[in-house]
Amino acid sequence: MRNCEKRFHKIYHRDAAALAFCPYRICPIGAHSDHNMGKVTGQAIDKGIHIAYSPKENGVIELCSLQFDKRAQWHVAQVPERRQGDWADYLRGATLELGRRYPLTRGLSGVIEGSLPIGGLSSSAAVTLSFFSALCAVNGLKPAAPELIKMAVAVENNYVGVSSGKLDQSCEIYSRKNQLLYLDTLDDSYEVIPTHPSMPAYDIMIFFSGVERTLAGSAFNMRVDEARSAAYALKAFSGMPYGKFAETNLREVSREVYEQYKNRLPETWRRRAEHWYTEYARVEAGAEAWRRGDLVAFGRLSFESGRSSIENWETGSPELKTLYDIMTHTDGIYGGRFSGAGFKGCCMALTDPAFRESITEKVTAAYLREFPDLKGKFSVHVCQSADGVSL
Ligand code: GLA
Repeated sequence: MRNCEKRFHKIYHRDAAALAFCPYRICPIGAHSDHNMGKVTGQAIDKGIHIAYSPKENGVIELCSLQFDKRAQWHVAQVPERRQGDWADYLRGATLELGRRYPLTRGLSGVIEGSLPIGGLSSSAAVTLSFFSALCAVNGLKPAAPELIKMAVAVENNYVGVSSGKLDQSCEIYSRKNQLLYLDTLDDSYEVIPTHPSMPAYDIMIFFSGVERTLAGSAFNMRVDEARSAAYALKAFSGMPYGKFAETNLREVSREVYEQYKNRLPETWRRRAEHWYTEYARVEAGAEAWRRGDLVAFGRLSFESGRSSIENWETGSPELKTLYDIMTHTDGIYGGRFSGAGFKGCCMALTDPAFRESITEKVTAAYLREFPDLKGKFSVHVCQSADGVSL
């Protein structure tokens, strides 16, 4: 029995009727691309968010989380129009989104459990998708994958207020165990590239910095706006027609145009664009490396992606940058970067299973030498790739 099921039993004195699950995701190459219609790679992992739940005929939604203190409650027909500023906002927003498209009559009581610390693995998309799957099940709804992704992204963009793209939700739905998701966010075309028989075995190691921060910060949105501004300016410099600013993205501007006019951009905008164009090339090269089973080349591209996120996208807390540096100097690590936006959470690495112990020891010792106060909070997890959420 999972902890969320035990807690459900303790609160309601009966077993939960069902268990919803959605995995977390990693994005080894393709960071900060999706909001500007780039390409991404990703995998779901064998850890994620569970919700133990039972339907409520009266339409009330009543939730608590093992990771947060406050319980939350609302009615499927009366969701606050604005976010309340707590963990349940994703789920209020999800209720609104689903309710706009389908009639909702039943609610649910549920207990949410995350299997890893929060930050970098897209627990927000995972909690939203597992909640969607529970709320759809109790109301007899079966939206298709693209619609679910669209609704979950709308929750983040419109209700929570983060200008994120569709990387997280797509990885958490489309991924297949042992395969690499290769997605073009421009038209949602994707491929799951099988692992070549000659590819060596690998672990997905997650190093949690011990610092949990929220993504809903303004810095994430500002970087997206900076990249968009670069696209807008490049269009103007080159005489391309341009429309609404909010709909402009770097994918509309060729790399040649960027190279020709980049020196006229403000330095910060140039760096954001530099990250985007080079990341686009890294994703394409990474997909080809995976296809031929070249984990060394793939890993190197992931390290390069991490470096560009630090230098060009200019993200990464001191803790995450330190972890990244340690990873680049540790034997047995093919490659890695901060997982996710880089404002909080963790770094991911693709590693040689034969080095599991030595990597854990070396990274832990080196990190805690720099951040002794994070002893007890820093943690290492060995994961494997997994199937996306089953709908
Ligand atoms: C967060 C967002 C994603 C993506 C990544 C950075 O996880 O939710 O849409 O932008 O950051 O690659």
